[in-house]
Amino acid sequence: MFPSEKLKQLTLQITKLAREAGDFQINELKNFELSNIEHKGRSNDLVSYVDKETEKLLIQSLTKLVPEAGFETEEGTVEQIKTGLRWIIDPLDGTTNFLHKLPLFSISIALVQDDTLLIGVVHEPSRNECFYAWKDGGAYMNGERIETSAITTLSDSLIATGFPYSLRGKAEQYFSLIRHFVETTHGVRRLGSAAIDLCYVACGRFEAYFEFNLKPWDVAAGILIVREAGGIVTNYAGGPDHCQTAEEVCASGANIHAAMIETFKKIW
Ligand code: IPD
Ligand code: CA
Ligand code: CA
Repeated sequence: MFPSEKLKQLTLQITKLAREAGDFQINELKNFELSNIEHKGRSNDLVSYVDKETEKLLIQSLTKLVPEAGFETEEGTVEQIKTGLRWIIDPLDGTTNFLHKLPLFSISIALVQDDTLLIGVVHEPSRNECFYAWKDGGAYMNGERIETSAITTLSDSLIATGFPYSLRGKAEQYFSLIRHFVETTHGVRRLGSAAIDLCYVACGRFEAYFEFNLKPWDVAAGILIVREAGGIVTNYAGGPDHCQTAEEVCASGANIHAAMIETFKKIW
């Protein structure tokens, strides 16, 4: 295990690598053409050379930083492991936005020991905002400490959600949930990057975020950032089995988490 000071140093080094990867993406965005899109399985699950090249860049530099760590990555450009010390990486979260030149996407990097989240870094290049946290060290954005919202009621809350690539036959329940939140809160937003949604909960821009059928690389870094910012992340039943499967994720400020779970109990 790493001592806290070492985790902090590593985290700051990773933010630099994430910023370099972000510069690459912003540069590629200028000349990106829709003909560069490839399909992964489902017709709405897209990828491009930018996702893959970013992943390779990160793997190269992270291997130098912690040679003993393996990788669990979205694009699978390196041998994959699912236990032990590893980097969990989504090189471009918000791919569909990127492909349509919508400047709302991020790079998500987590360092994990088995089930324990050690470091989370999420960089949003278009806004030059880098969010990060290390275990027991607090959460930060561009050097400033961040905290989740202190709001106490759903009626005063702004909620984020996402539409997973497959709704797994649960479209009716899911849209009922969204309808409920539309009718009872300040509003519901769908940004298109789960990692950014989580970081915006961490810094109090959103009171809560929920989605389902995600993958570990969508949420690993963001979950640690929310927790270190004082928030709570669980599945829809309020239980802890979310990071490995990423089946259901509900992240919020501590004061409204119970109300979120009550809503899932009624509608999900
Ligand atoms: C997607 C984004 C999106 C979420 C999807 C994810 P990708 O990741 O995080 O916000 O709704 O479920 O798969 O494909 O852009 O890396
Ligand atoms: Ca993703
Ligand atoms: Ca991705």
